[in-house]
Amino acid sequence: MRLVLLGPPGAGKGTQAKLLQDHFHIPQVSTGDILRQAVADGTARGKQAKEYMDRGELVPDSVINEIVEERLAAEDCRTGFLLDGFPRTVAQAEAFETMLERRSLVLDGAVSLWVPREEVVVRLSGRRTCRQCGGMYHVQFNPPANDLTCDRCGGDLYQRADDREDTIEARMEVYDKQSAPLREHFREKGMLREVDGAKGTDEVFEQILTALRKAA
Ligand code: AP5
Repeated sequence: MRLVLLGPPGAGKGTQAKLLQDHFHIPQVSTGDILRQAVADGTARGKQAKEYMDRGELVPDSVINEIVEERLAAEDCRTGFLLDGFPRTVAQAEAFETMLERRSLVLDGAVSLWVPREEVVVRLSGRRTCRQCGGMYHVQFNPPANDLTCDRCGGDLYQRADDREDTIEARMEVYDKQSAPLREHFREKGMLREVDGAKGTDEVFEQILTALRKAA
């Protein structure tokens, strides 16, 4: 299974990617997670990406395409993968399609999650992530037993730097201008599977499975 997850910041891509990863036994490839790791490691790529991420802007396509190309060449992606946060521009989608063609691979679907803007702000401002295992919580919808530590591994929970309200606004504008046209791109290719991301996590997951089954 080869899937792409589309949607605005806070639509639930990361949350659903983890469920889909377990269901289909395919790795989640999150460009956001890869970039945050590069920033934490202080690599040259991380230093370059941080400036863009802190402003809520997109990291240049050339950097992102290289990251994805490298990651998809790894052994665990041989039988499938789930891309979370890529492609994010039509140029990235075209580069991705070239990568697939070179490997004689086909995409099974592009799942698009949609949530209203007010909900995005609530979701992102309340998100807490575990530094150790990447586990995700929400102070209101999925609170940890203890405000500061992860229920699963005891790691520290933190708030992402780009989840401040002014940066969330900038990320939404970037989404509207640069990423929203991707839905049309995948619709034209007959790949788009639209799902209402505003429902509860389990219901969204069921909707995704149904949309994929219908298309098979
Ligand atoms: P990235 O990390 O990809 O961020 P994003 O796309 O803005 O998406 P988020 O991770 O914020 O949200 P999500 O949709 O995954 O929602 P989540 O499941 O966490 O990218 C960060 C930055 O990296 C970008 O701004 C850019 O600079 C750079 N970048 C990355 N990829 C790039 C690319 N391809 N090109 C260029 N630059 C790139 O959920 C959010 C919260 O809501 C959580 O607290 C969760 O618990 C809660 N929640 C989830 N689902 C539900 C639900 N159904 N009901 C209630 N609460 C829910």
